[in-house]
Amino acid sequence: MKTHEIRNRFTQHFVNAGHEAVPSASLILDDPNLLFVNAGMVPFKPYFLGQQNPPFANGTATSIQKCVRTLDIEEVGITTRHNTFFQMAGNFSFGQYFKEGAITLAWGLLTNSVEEGGFGLDPERLWVTVYLDDDEAADIWHEKIGVPRERIQRLGMEDNYWSMGIPGPCGPCSEIYYDRGPEYGKEGGPVADDNRYMEIWNLVFMQNERGEGIGKGNFEILGPLPKKNIDTGMGVERVACILQGVENVYETDLLRPVIDVAEQLTGARYTEDADPQDLIRFRVVADHSRTGMMLILDGVTPSNEGRGYILRRLLRRIIRSARLLGAKDATMSKFMNSIMDTMEPSYPEIGENRERILRVAVAEEKAFLKTLESGTKLFDDAVAGLKSAAAKKLTGDKAFELHDTYGFPIDLTLEMAAEAGLEVDMEGFNAAMGEQRRRAKADNQAKKHGHVDQSIYREWLDNHPTEFTGFDTLESDAKVLGLVRDGQKVTDVQVGDEVEVILDRTPLYAEAGGQLADRGRIVAGDTLLEVGDVQKIGKQLWVHKAKVTAGGLDLGSTVSAEVDPRWRHGAVQAHSATHLIHAALRQVLGPTAVQAGSLNRPGYLRFDFNYTEQLTPAQLEEIALITNQAVDAHFDVNTIETTLDHAKDMGAMALFGENYGSEVRVVEIGGPFSIELCGGTHVANSAEIGPVSVLGESSVGSGARRIEAYSGMDAFRYYSKEAALIEGVSRELKVQPEDLPERIANLTEKLRAAEKEIAQLRKAQLMAGVGELLNQAQDVSGFRVLTAALPEGATGGDLRTVATDLRNRVKDEPAVILLTARDGAKLPFIVAATKPAIERGVKAGDLVKRFGEYVEGRGGGKPDMAQGSGSHPDGAQQGFQAIKDLLETL
Ligand code: ALA
Repeated sequence: MKTHEIRNRFTQHFVNAGHEAVPSASLILDDPNLLFVNAGMVPFKPYFLGQQNPPFANGTATSIQKCVRTLDIEEVGITTRHNTFFQMAGNFSFGQYFKEGAITLAWGLLTNSVEEGGFGLDPERLWVTVYLDDDEAADIWHEKIGVPRERIQRLGMEDNYWSMGIPGPCGPCSEIYYDRGPEYGKEGGPVADDNRYMEIWNLVFMQNERGEGIGKGNFEILGPLPKKNIDTGMGVERVACILQGVENVYETDLLRPVIDVAEQLTGARYTEDADPQDLIRFRVVADHSRTGMMLILDGVTPSNEGRGYILRRLLRRIIRSARLLGAKDATMSKFMNSIMDTMEPSYPEIGENRERILRVAVAEEKAFLKTLESGTKLFDDAVAGLKSAAAKKLTGDKAFELHDTYGFPIDLTLEMAAEAGLEVDMEGFNAAMGEQRRRAKADNQAKKHGHVDQSIYREWLDNHPTEFTGFDTLESDAKVLGLVRDGQKVTDVQVGDEVEVILDRTPLYAEAGGQLADRGRIVAGDTLLEVGDVQKIGKQLWVHKAKVTAGGLDLGSTVSAEVDPRWRHGAVQAHSATHLIHAALRQVLGPTAVQAGSLNRPGYLRFDFNYTEQLTPAQLEEIALITNQAVDAHFDVNTIETTLDHAKDMGAMALFGENYGSEVRVVEIGGPFSIELCGGTHVANSAEIGPVSVLGESSVGSGARRIEAYSGMDAFRYYSKEAALIEGVSRELKVQPEDLPERIANLTEKLRAAEKEIAQLRKAQLMAGVGELLNQAQDVSGFRVLTAALPEGATGGDLRTVATDLRNRVKDEPAVILLTARDGAKLPFIVAATKPAIERGVKAGDLVKRFGEYVEGRGGGKPDMAQGSGSHPDGAQQGFQAIKDLLETL
């Protein structure tokens, strides 16, 4: 049965049962928590939560929703059932039928004969799961439907309690599985083997609302929804896989044609005895072509961030896979055409978007192929060099250059090297990558984690949020829960490795709220890792970026995680100083100076705020004074964990409209002096901050200004440097420091007078020579014409003075004066004409334009005097001649 027919039968089945058929929503919905729509229920969320009334006649609906899930991108082609794009067919009841209705309807569609409009699946092959204590669902399956008890299995929260992974509607669910037979795995139902028993349909009994918490198993249930609802999701591609009797979801009628095209274009074969890596590549091409096409259809374009980055990554994976399969030329348009052909019957809008989709995909291919080609040349040259030197290893730097400049994934380089009988210096490559990461760290947070593929962190995110101990201690014993090297999970790391370490608990602060991450060490016996950065994934997973400088480390070991106390000392000083400056700023400028961002690291801070005017020196001085008075006041610093509402009552400034959750942390310095919501680390008493030296303020774009300051010892160093500077200047000028301003004012005045005198002298000198220029004048059909370059040293500013002077000397004759000067690479010029010349038809403006044509310049003015400037001084001689020629015609 074709996929389109599966879709139609699904819709028909539920329409017959009174559901309203709702078209798929776009893949891109305006939900900040979702990169793409990833379940059929997403567009219906407000109806489940009771925020809106469902607009469907019977309170029931059915849809086939486009979904994209890219967390499992590495699984594509390896397992039999992971598509990055898939179609979720669902039926929804908003307070209408519940468990029995959902179960009966699903069972009917799956097992009704094909003649009756069903899918005709053999009931003996269907298994179901229910949530642990859901006897009600189990009884319905057994008593009403007749599924034997041994084919009804029970699973816990992780598998059979569905939520969106974020706060929203949730509830226990019941899943339907199809037994593909003993050749696919071991007996024992879905709990034993989820490859042999393929999940095809999830029935969610949506009845509760979940709160914060991470992942599938670890969240609070806030309470019941206003009504009991049904949300189901049937995987259209999985049902197609079964009904079409194919091995996996990449070989169904929608994707197989792309594999066929790939066979033609690459020469590789998609057969059982083919290289397993090749088989995966074929599937990647098919899967990603479709996802890429559907994303472009919904308006995504390739870029380096967010959704665009995912699209770019998908498209490059296609191109690379096709290359590795043997493609020599461009393949994208053929893949895209093929997938558009198979998808268009279900998505007619593809028709009018064909050209656009092709254009976007092919442009990305062109861009990548361009670097692919030059990268390949670089690679070939390197190989030739190695061969002639009888060397066997491509250097890490070359591999890195290929990766960095030419967009070559390292596995592409590895494979090319293997073909050439070479190895790659992976250590060197990793070192270069590490170096680049260090550089990239200067990038902002968004860039750092905005497009990171978080799939490898998923397990920890879901199960092991990090416990942060760093508010109370600088050292904690911890267990190594995860090690990541080069984006891969590993079980051990060795000296020299650049790694990411995940611990169950850590005192190291992860960069957040403007405060940079702690530096520190991870120690175990003789093993030492130096931690250079700590970043958070999500809100609760700490990732330590470290270098192993001694020994090695295994997964599961116990270590001591230690914050560098000097670093932390400087960091808390700077962060608390930031709060003081913020408070002082609002005292001086009023509450309209709203924080727009901040950054602090040991010894330094900057604070951006919205304010349209430049601060006066007096305001800055006052801000600095209030800040340092607050230091001097020995204010205790208190942190309070409380509710957002209570924090607001306390007067805490909740900024950026940030979603702090209901429990918040308030940092209070000196009671009402400064109260802020903040998750950072702080001094215990304001006196610990030490001096704060305000460096100044500047504009950072429209309506925002920035104050910068040093804190603690850095403030002292700053002052002491300033003092040394002043001391040096005093000595040089031989006055006491307090007399410096007067002395400098005096000197400046003298200097100005001297410059003026020099200018006058220069002009006098120039004028003295000017009279002689007239001797060079020529007669051109009765005009006295002087064309000349002013002597060296004369500037554009002198032109008018000299020209006016010369014209005065010959004012009774028909005379034209054309002078040039030099100003760097520019050629300023001027034309002056006497009255008699004007009477004979001369217009200085016209002459300036004509001359300009020869010196690549422009200009204009009045008939008696016009000026211009050219950028091609070499054309001056020709220009002079042209002016004479022109005068001859008058
Ligand atoms: N919303 C349910 C799922 O995505 C049906 O599995």
